[in-house]
Amino acid sequence: MKTRIFAAMTGAILVLAACGGGGGEEARQQKVLTLMLEELDPAVDGIWQHSGWELTEENGEVSLFPTTDEGWQDMADSADKVIEVVRKLQTDEYSNGDPEWIAISEGVITFTEEAKQAALAQDEQEVFDLGGDIYRACLACHQRYIIDDE
Ligand code: HEC
Repeated sequence: MKTRIFAAMTGAILVLAACGGGGGEEARQQKVLTLMLEELDPAVDGIWQHSGWELTEENGEVSLFPTTDEGWQDMADSADKVIEVVRKLQTDEYSNGDPEWIAISEGVITFTEEAKQAALAQDEQEVFDLGGDIYRACLACHQRYIIDDE
């Protein structure tokens, strides 16, 4: 009986070791980083870079928000792209099935969906506030999962 318990425990330890590290995990992290830099960051810039007010010496406060229907539509399209990328981030391939990872990602999606609606309504303040909410949702995952930040 004792041996059987020992054997079962060894099995469990081996499974844990397999989850915790190794080439597969490294490859997954690399894929996450590539997705962040090449897809997610450029997509969300379609919202952030056209949201807010910039203080300039020449012209004082300058609005960054779109000024045409087309510009607002571009922002809504960027939101769709962000949602598409974050849905990819939620798949096993990127999330490893981690429920917390998937839940934080869902927060990004929820705020981005709201930001899309605000862009379609051409509501500057609402887009600005939701841009901040999206940023904080990104940060929540980075604080949770990036241990050696900087
Ligand atoms: C579910 C988790 C998660 C969410 C949500 C998330 N990220 Fe990331 N992000 C990561 C992880 C993990 C890394 C580090 C990857 C690595 O270096 O191994 C990272 C890295 C990055 C990097 C590269 C940082 C650097 O200095 O190398 C950028 C840029 C980035 N994320 C942008 C974003 C943006 C923008 C959002 C929100 C729209 C976001 N991320 C949301 C997990 C997440």
